[in-house]
Amino acid sequence: MRSNIDGKVIVITGASSGLGEAAARLLSARGARLVLGARRTDRLQQLADELDPSGQRAIAVATDVTVREQVAHLVDTAVQTFGRIDVMVNNAGLMPLAPIERLAVGDWDRMIDVNLKGVLYGIAAALPHMQRQMSGQFVNVSSVAGHKVMLNGAVYSATKHAVRALSEGLRQETKAWNIRTTIVSPGAVDTELQGSVTEPDIARGMRDFYQAVAIPADAFARAVAFAIEQPEDMDVNEILFRPTRQVP
Ligand SMILES: NC(=O)c1ccc[n+]([C@@H]2O[C@H](COP(=O)([O-])OP(=O)(O)OC[C@H]3O[C@@H](n4cnc5c(N)ncnc54)[C@H](OP(=O)(O)O)[C@@H]3O)[C@@H](O)[C@H]2O)c1
Repeated sequence: MRSNIDGKVIVITGASSGLGEAAARLLSARGARLVLGARRTDRLQQLADELDPSGQRAIAVATDVTVREQVAHLVDTAVQTFGRIDVMVNNAGLMPLAPIERLAVGDWDRMIDVNLKGVLYGIAAALPHMQRQMSGQFVNVSSVAGHKVMLNGAVYSATKHAVRALSEGLRQETKAWNIRTTIVSPGAVDTELQGSVTEPDIARGMRDFYQAVAIPADAFARAVAFAIEQPEDMDVNEILFRPTRQVP
């Protein structure tokens, strides 16, 4: 039986590592045509070549999600190459955790720019195409931190709560165009995300926590595939998952 992923045109931001890369691998194996965005183009191109040496079904596009024109170019490349966009996976993000009193204002700005404004730019780029098509799906990546606030994670949590609020509003307002909206909120998954923690003491704590509980990134990929493969009349609004051994 043909799956509801086969042939779909799927754009993924933050596809050069971690969750985005894992999603690209699984969705490619299920027959999706992929347009992959991130800043590290060497890794992105390597992934695209590995997934499809012919260059017909996986394309790498240099994208900084904090630059609206670059996100528009990413999505426009999908539409120009494949004629449409079926799914926009707004995944790019970073997590430089720190207590508020350390006033890491530069990190606050970066988290807002990437984790929140990057998602907004993804919506701005993809929504007009989906409205024209009268179909499409957003998969916006939040976090367990989008459901609860943890010590040293106030700003990260704020961005991830905002992604959920934004996604719910988007879901309600796009019914007229038959658009689906899915929030995926992972728990601890083994990726490069801890590398974005710049405070040494916080980084140590995160490393210990992830070593104790994190699961492979394929868990996220399976969650995304589940949401996409459902029939078009079923909109999986939210998936929250944790490693079985994760408590908080
Ligand atoms: N891993 C977890 O435990 C976990 C849990 C909950 C939620 N999440 C969320 O999952 C998402 C993916 O993170 P990950 O765990 O896969 O971490 P990761 O391995 O560090 O991947 C982050 C991705 O985001 C991209 N990125 C960062 N800044 C960017 C920018 N300005 N423009 C474009 N791309 C940018 C990176 O690519 P370049 O550096 O090449 O640009 C990379 O591909 C994030 O939104 C994160 O908050 C992760």
